[in-house]
Formats: sequence, structure tokens, C-alpha cells
Amino acid sequence: MKLFIDTANVEEIKNASKLGIISGVTTNPSLLAKTGRKLDEVIEEITSLVDGPISAEVTEADADTMYNQAHDLVNEIKSDKLTIKLPMTDEGIKVCKRLSKEGIKTNVTLIFSLPQAILAMEAGATFISPFMGRMDDYYDDTEAGYRLIEEISQVKEKYSYSSKIIAASIRNVNHVKQAALANADIATIPYKVLLEMYHHPLTKSGLEKFKLDSGK
Ligand code: E4P
Repeated sequence: MKLFIDTANVEEIKNASKLGIISGVTTNPSLLAKTGRKLDEVIEEITSLVDGPISAEVTEADADTMYNQAHDLVNEIKSDKLTIKLPMTDEGIKVCKRLSKEGIKTNVTLIFSLPQAILAMEAGATFISPFMGRMDDYYDDTEAGYRLIEEISQVKEKYSYSSKIIAASIRNVNHVKQAALANADIATIPYKVLLEMYHHPLTKSGLEKFKLDSGK
């Protein structure tokens, strides 16, 4: 399973890319708002830091305006890493179909059901983003997100859809584990959770013992 970082914070992206395990970046309007910066400016900077798809989300609601906003980003960023993140709405799906035909990478976001995932995959989305944490919260069930990804991956396999599944809204290390077991292609992970993945108490105590025994 590939690992993306879910942030618009350039410092976090710089640090994460030094770890050598990051294959892409996802942003959204809420993450961008935390930076206080402009979308095109941030995305352009990220393209120089990460070698992989970088999702930038459109904010317009109607298909034609959304399509134009996507093309403005394509013209400004001028990088084949740019991935246009589109909302899971009828208008978003229309734009997904148009951009896919033009060979522009797309990521359909805010997916909470298998039927929604089918719509996005049929529209040729490069990536689809089911949200694990928000699913778990909404259904008050720590396996709701896991089951959603499992269902989508089964259907994707059965009908040979080419869309890649990005497990999104990851809140903890257990979500990363569930995403992998449910056959997500990618997990997009906040920086804090990414760092937590390195740790286990037995690794820590084991290292301390090895250090002691080696006389260092
Ligand atoms: C996905 O691409 C989104 O940016 C993100 O994972 C949303 O996560 P949240 O539910 O923590 O806001």
C-alpha cells in the first residue's frame, strides 16, 4: 500500500518527504485554510518537494464553473503531478468524466458508500477517496470505514476498474492497518499519524536492551 501525506503544510511535507516513504500528497480546503496561503501557490511549492500525485481540491459547485476552475489550476501549475480533487456530487462526476477524457488526473473525494464509489469509478476517476474516520464517527462503529473500503475494493477487482482507492480521513495507526487489510491502494495520512506508525513499545524496549548489551 502506497503512503500519501494528507496536509497542506509545506514544513510537514518537507519533513515527511525526507523519510523516503511518501508517494503523493492530498490537500483539501480545510487543510489549506490552516496555512493561510493561496491554493496555487501551495500546490506549486509541493510539486517541487514530492515526486507523485498532488491533489488540489476545486471549490465551485456547478459543473462548468468547476471545470473552468480545474483548468485554471492545470494552466497555473503546469505539472503532470497535479490531480484535481472533485466533490462526490452529480456535478463533480460530470467534471470527472470530462477531465478523465482529457487525460487529467482526478480524485473524487467525500465518498461514503459503494454506490458513490461506483459512480466515480465509472466516470474514470484516477483516484477515489472513501473517508474512514468520518464513516466511523457517523455510524459510531470503528469498523464502518474498514467495511466501506473492503466493499469498494471487492467491486473494483470484480469489474476491473482502474481507479485507485485512497483510504482518507485516517485518524490513527489502526486506520492504516484497516486500510491495508481492506486492500486500499493508498492511505493518505496526517503527519502526526505517519510518525506514530514508526513506534511500538517493544521496539523501544528492545532497542534499549540491545544498546545496554552492546556496552554503548
Ligand atoms: C482526504 O483527501 C481528505 O483530505 C482528508 O483525509 C479528510 O480527513 P478528515 O476527515 O480528518 O478531515
